[in-house]
Amino acid sequence: MRVMVTGGTGTVGSAVVGELVSRGVSVRVLTRSAERAAALPAGVEGVVGDLLDPDTVRTAFAGADGLFLLNAVSTTEAHEGIMGVHGARLGRVGRIVYLSVQEAERAPHLPHFGAKLAVEAAVVASGIPFTILRPNNFFQNDLWFRQALVEHGLYPQPIGAAGISRVDVRDIAEAAAIALTGEGHAGETYELVGPEALTGERCAAIWSAALGRPVAYGGDDLDAWEAGARQYLPAWMAFDFRQMYGHFQTVGLAGSAAAVARQTALLGHLPRPLAAFAAECAATWRDSAGI
Ligand SMILES: NC(=O)c1ccc[n+]([C@@H]2O[C@H](COP(=O)([O-])OP(=O)(O)OC[C@H]3O[C@@H](n4cnc5c(N)ncnc54)[C@H](OP(=O)(O)O)[C@@H]3O)[C@@H](O)[C@H]2O)c1
Repeated sequence: MRVMVTGGTGTVGSAVVGELVSRGVSVRVLTRSAERAAALPAGVEGVVGDLLDPDTVRTAFAGADGLFLLNAVSTTEAHEGIMGVHGARLGRVGRIVYLSVQEAERAPHLPHFGAKLAVEAAVVASGIPFTILRPNNFFQNDLWFRQALVEHGLYPQPIGAAGISRVDVRDIAEAAAIALTGEGHAGETYELVGPEALTGERCAAIWSAALGRPVAYGGDDLDAWEAGARQYLPAWMAFDFRQMYGHFQTVGLAGSAAAVARQTALLGHLPRPLAAFAAECAATWRDSAGI
């Protein structure tokens, strides 16, 4: 079986590549960078191209039995996603697994949620057997906060107190590989969630236990968060994420018990908990003398 992975040099896609390779799948990764193509794991073929480039869309997808379609958060996300679906049609790809986001329809005003609704619609209308994965907020986002956690004792992601069922990217990657290689997933949409609806305070407490030192939640002040985020993110992205955090604070993004049970049946194991991820990170950071 041959699978094309977009986003295969990123957080989720690289984990999907690992899961597919471990299942004996022949994997191609689309990347804009010849350097990143050359650095892919042994046996994985890199295809240099860009979802915004018609020539890529015309040629890169031919011969693939499956497509894992992931698009980065960008101002052209919907365009890139629809181009990916178009490429799958032109290349006569056998199935698509699309990475969306949980409960996108409840927050279509968030640019990177609304973009995914447009791509989902194109996937569904493509006529190609599809599976849609709708994950919650990733545990792996916390890797960006290593310095805040370790040096300042702060958990900075302003997710509030309503509760969001954050998920481990490794669970997402397993789900993707199962949907790409297994049977019975066509037409299905899977929410991918962690075992617990986490608050900001609870994330801080979990990191505090893992690191063995006090970690405080940074609080819900979104003006302060956006002003800080604009130091390192483009303004449009800081705005988008600020609105998302506002949505998390007011509405939450909790997974239902039914979603957890369905995911457990799909993966064959319970969702990984944040405490396990934090403990692994703390051990790695200790080994690298980072804490
Ligand atoms: N973070 C979360 O908590 C969360 C939760 C739910 C859903 N999501 C969704 O997950 C997605 C992000 O996943 P991620 O964190 O794994 O991404 P990531 O690490 O930021 O990687 C982005 C990938 O997209 C590729 N890419 C970017 N622009 C491209 C283009 N024009 N043509 C082809 N490839 C392109 C990049 O490849 P090259 O740079 O090598 O070209 C890279 O592999 C977003 O859609 C986000 O909304 C995130």
